Amino acid sequence: MNPFNDFFSHAPEIINADKILQQWTSLAPVYDVERWQLPLPVWAKRPYEHNGPEAWEAARQAANDSRSDQPMCIYIHIPFCTSKCGFCDSYSFKLESHADMRVKEYVERICGELRLWSAQGTLANRPVTSVHLGGGTPTFLDTKSLERLAACIRNAFNITNGTEWALESTVQSLTPLMTACLHDLGFRRPHVGVQSLQPGTRTVIGRRQSPAKVLECIVRHKAMGWVVSVDLICGLPEQALTAWLADIQALADCGVDGFSLYELLIYPQNREWAKRHHLLERSHLPNYFLFQAGANLLSALGCRKNLFNHWANNRDENIYFTYPTRSEDLLAIGTIADGVFGNYHYRHPRYASYLRSTGGGLPGLEGGLLENPLEQKNKPLVVAVQSNRIAPNLVSELNARKIDGESLHDRWLAHALIESSGDSGYQLTNNGAWLAGNMIGEISSTQ
Ligand SMILES: C[S@@+](CC[C@H](N)C(=O)[O-])C[C@H]1O[C@@H](n2cnc3c(N)ncnc32)[C@H](O)[C@@H]1O
Ligand code: SF4
Repeated sequence: MNPFNDFFSHAPEIINADKILQQWTSLAPVYDVERWQLPLPVWAKRPYEHNGPEAWEAARQAANDSRSDQPMCIYIHIPFCTSKCGFCDSYSFKLESHADMRVKEYVERICGELRLWSAQGTLANRPVTSVHLGGGTPTFLDTKSLERLAACIRNAFNITNGTEWALESTVQSLTPLMTACLHDLGFRRPHVGVQSLQPGTRTVIGRRQSPAKVLECIVRHKAMGWVVSVDLICGLPEQALTAWLADIQALADCGVDGFSLYELLIYPQNREWAKRHHLLERSHLPNYFLFQAGANLLSALGCRKNLFNHWANNRDENIYFTYPTRSEDLLAIGTIADGVFGNYHYRHPRYASYLRSTGGGLPGLEGGLLENPLEQKNKPLVVAVQSNRIAPNLVSELNARKIDGESLHDRWLAHALIESSGDSGYQLTNNGAWLAGNMIGEISSTQ
């Protein structure tokens, strides 16, 4: 049987299966869903040029070159979780809930780093568009530690009424007490790691809260005026099309504003788990179909992409993840956090090295590198693809870039990776959303 018909034979009417088929067919013979690539930062593509102390000198120099009215984002990584989920590829690890001293120590290191950066050039004055706590599970921190962290941020930087306070979290840790504390501190946007609402899948990934509890958590935050974003993964065990779409519909019905769709990635850290669930020799095609169907449903529900894998209504601006589209700098703090000032990228090390190398007047960086001239030239197009917005002024550039004599414009249009955005510019199709990393690879292969 044709894999498409097989997969979509019981598709609900709300999704446009014909359109999905048409898009899938348009990919051949040039693009293969099995060979999709992830968009990667520069430090993941080539070695650092500078070690930690050198990177600090270069980053602070780049930070010093900025103007005091240039907005920027702040990202802080909290690597702790109550347990390490088998499927997870994030940099995070289990900490015993009574490990108060370790939490306190880490928060103090972060506060030290915040103070150090804020003393550089104009950084303390620059308006902050978003404070984003990522992880791990930032709500693993107790309320006192979160209060301390928020106070450090407010003391050291220019937090305005417009600053978006966002954090990644779980239903388990977003207790009413935790939400009340976060609300008082200014947080208004959780990225809730839902992953799936299906009981079978939830059991396999170790989520103990019932689907009803997940929805209740979302409704509670919506009632307090928060903008709620959820993370969903396709490619987990026991996922079927109708259930996947029912999950998205149920989340939309209870008011979710934004949806990030991920395909399950398999790295050394979750390989054993993936092997146990027979996912190592998987085909990506069913996941591509789930992704396309989910994206199609989200469009039918009125959501638009504001990042290649994030669908949102008008309330959800997704400020942190879209910082490059506004040419903002990113001040990143804590374990494995990667930041950028102008064209200079730096990254922090993992926990043990971070604790060893912070303090004593250093932010504990692992290394850094400067975008080379080609990367700088490619940046506007790369950012455009990542953010789903190829503005009219970039179209001539898209026409000028050629692969085997064919322009990227013609190639991407012919294979349904982009479509007109109605203003002489383009946006990604849902095919483009799946293949954004490949598109970025192609930009990098042209001059
Ligand atoms: C940094 S994690 C934090 C999530 C939060 N602690 C939780 O447990 O839900 C952010 C998101 O990354 C996604 N993620 C985690 N592991 C993944 C994997 N192996 N492949 C793809 N996405 C993954 C999940 O959707 C998750 O919600
Ligand atoms: S999925 Fe979330 S809670 Fe689980 S290990 Fe990863 S970051 Fe921690």
